[in-house]
Amino acid sequence: MDDRFETAGGWARKGQDHDTPLTAWAQWRALKAHHRAVKDMSLRAAFAQDVGRAERMSAEAAGLYLDYSKNLVTPETLGLLFDLARARGLEARREAMFRGERINRTEDRAVLHVALRAPVGTAIRVDGRNVVEDVHAVLARMGAFAEAVRSRAWLGASGKPIRTVINIGIGGSALGPEMAYHALRPDTHPDLTLRFLANIDGAEFRDVTAGLDPGETLFIVCSKTFTTEETLVNARTARDWCVAALGEKAVARHFVAVSTNREAVAHFGIDPAHMFGFWDWVGGRYSLASAVGLGLMIAIGPEGFAELLAGFRGMDEHFLSAPLETNLPVILGLLGIWYNNFFDAQTLAILPYAHDLARLPAYVEQLVMESNGKHVDESGRAVDYETGPIVWGEPGVDGQHSFYQLLHQGTKIVPCDLIGFCRSRAGLPHHQDLLMANLIAQAEALAFGRSAEELTQAGVAGEQIPFRVCTGNRPTNVILAEALTPRTLGALIALYEHSVFTQGVIWGIDSFDQWGVELGKVLARRIQGELTGATPEGAHDDSTRALIRYYRACRARGD
Ligand code: F6P
Repeated sequence: MDDRFETAGGWARKGQDHDTPLTAWAQWRALKAHHRAVKDMSLRAAFAQDVGRAERMSAEAAGLYLDYSKNLVTPETLGLLFDLARARGLEARREAMFRGERINRTEDRAVLHVALRAPVGTAIRVDGRNVVEDVHAVLARMGAFAEAVRSRAWLGASGKPIRTVINIGIGGSALGPEMAYHALRPDTHPDLTLRFLANIDGAEFRDVTAGLDPGETLFIVCSKTFTTEETLVNARTARDWCVAALGEKAVARHFVAVSTNREAVAHFGIDPAHMFGFWDWVGGRYSLASAVGLGLMIAIGPEGFAELLAGFRGMDEHFLSAPLETNLPVILGLLGIWYNNFFDAQTLAILPYAHDLARLPAYVEQLVMESNGKHVDESGRAVDYETGPIVWGEPGVDGQHSFYQLLHQGTKIVPCDLIGFCRSRAGLPHHQDLLMANLIAQAEALAFGRSAEELTQAGVAGEQIPFRVCTGNRPTNVILAEALTPRTLGALIALYEHSVFTQGVIWGIDSFDQWGVELGKVLARRIQGELTGATPEGAHDDSTRALIRYYRACRARGD
C-alpha cells in the first residue's frame, strides 16, 4: 500500500510530514542506522574494492569539477541522502524559490538572488511584476556609471579623475565585492583601486584613506537597509573628510549609494539620481550580483561583471535542472549534512589553493553561518539536531604550515573543501605546479594517511611509529576549475549558495532571515551612550556594569 501523501514541500510518508520532527523521519533514521554500519569505513579499502569510485563520485558543471570520492560514503550512503532530499521536498522547494514564491517565511519575502542573474527576456514575477526587467534596468545604469568612471568621463569636483573607489558597507554589503575584487585582480582597471571600509574601528578609516587625495576618491555607500550604524557613521566621517578638502558641493561628485531605501539615501544627502537600487527579495549575503557589486563592476568593467553573472547563471541552471544525483550543489550540501548530523563534525574548512581567493573563507562564513545558524525550524519549533557548521579556513599552502597538523592527526573530524585551478593568471607556471601538487597531495594524505606498516617498511624506529602514523579517512571535496576567471568565480559562489539552500531545506529552517544579529545591535546602541556618559547607566548584570565602568574610568584618564 502506498503511504505517501503530497505536502507543500513535496511527497511525504504518513507519520513524517513537516510536523514530524526531522529526526523521526524514516529517511533520517535509515541514515542513522547506516552511519553505525559505515562510520569506521576505510577509504583505502573503498578505493581498492571499487576501481570506478573516483569516476563515479565526481561530477562537472558550469566549469567546475567536483571530486567527492574521498568522502566517508558508500554508494548506499549517497542513495540514502538523495532519498532524504527527495522526501524533504528539495526539488519542489528549489522550484518555488526560482518561481519567486515567498519562501523566506519569517520576513514574508521571496528569495530571488537567482533573478539577479537571469537573462534578458526571462520572466520572474513578484506581486505581478517582472523583476528581471527591473534587474536589467539597474544593470544598465550601473554599466553606464562604471564606464563613465573607468573612462574618466566622470570626474571629481576639482576636475580630477577618480583613482580610488571606497566601498563603505559591512557584512553582505562588503564581503562579496571584497572577495571578488581580490579574486579578479588580473581583470581590474590598472589605474583604479577599490578599497573597503567596513569596521567602525577608526583605525580602519585611517588605513583605508591613507595617502588618498579626496579629489580623486569616490565613495559608494552600500547598505541594503541604509540603517546600519557602522556604515552610516563611516559614511558621515568620509563625508566630513571629503567636505573638509573640497567643500560641501563636492559631495555630489564623490558619493553614490547602493540601497533599497531611497528615502534614507536622500536624507543622508546623496542625490537619489546617484543611487543604485535593489530589492527586499535579495538577501545581503546573496547580493553580490546586485548593485552591491557596483564597486566590483567599476574595477572589472561591465563586461567582466557580465561574465561573472554568466558564471552564476550556469550554476543556477545546473542546480535547477540536473538530477539530484549529478547536481553539484546538492551533492555538496548533502555531504555537509552527513558530516554535520551523523559524524557530529562541528566545522567545515574552506581551503582555497589560490592567493587571490584569500577572502573566500570569510565570504562563505557569512553565507553559511548567517543562513543556517538557526535553532528553530520554520514552524518555530526548537530543533533537536545540529544545523549549520562553523566555517573557517585559510588559503593553502599557508595553512599547511600552521593548522594542517590537526587535520591530519588531531582528534576531531574536519571536512575540508580544497579549491584549486589548473592555470594561474599570475604567470610563474612552475609556482602553480607546486601549489597544485600540494593540493592534490593533501587530499591524498588526508584520505589514505600513512600506516604503521608503511612506516616500518620505510625504516622508521618502532618507538617513533605511534607519533608518525596518519590514520587517514579524513574527508575532502576537491573542486577544480581551469582558471580563476569572473565566470568561474560566479559558478563557485552559486555552488555554495545552493548547497546552503539544500541544507536549509533538509533541516527545515529559514535560511534567509538573520534575527540573531539584532539583539547585539540594540544593546550596543544603548551602551554607547552609557560609555560616553550621554545617558545614565542602565540596568545591567554585574559583569556588564563592571566592563562599562572600567572603560569609562580608562577613558576619563585619557581625556
Ligand atoms: O547585521 C547583519 C546584517 O544585517 C547582514 O545580514 C547584512 O549583510 C549586513 O548586516 C549589512 O546590512 P546592510 O546592507 O543593510 O547595511
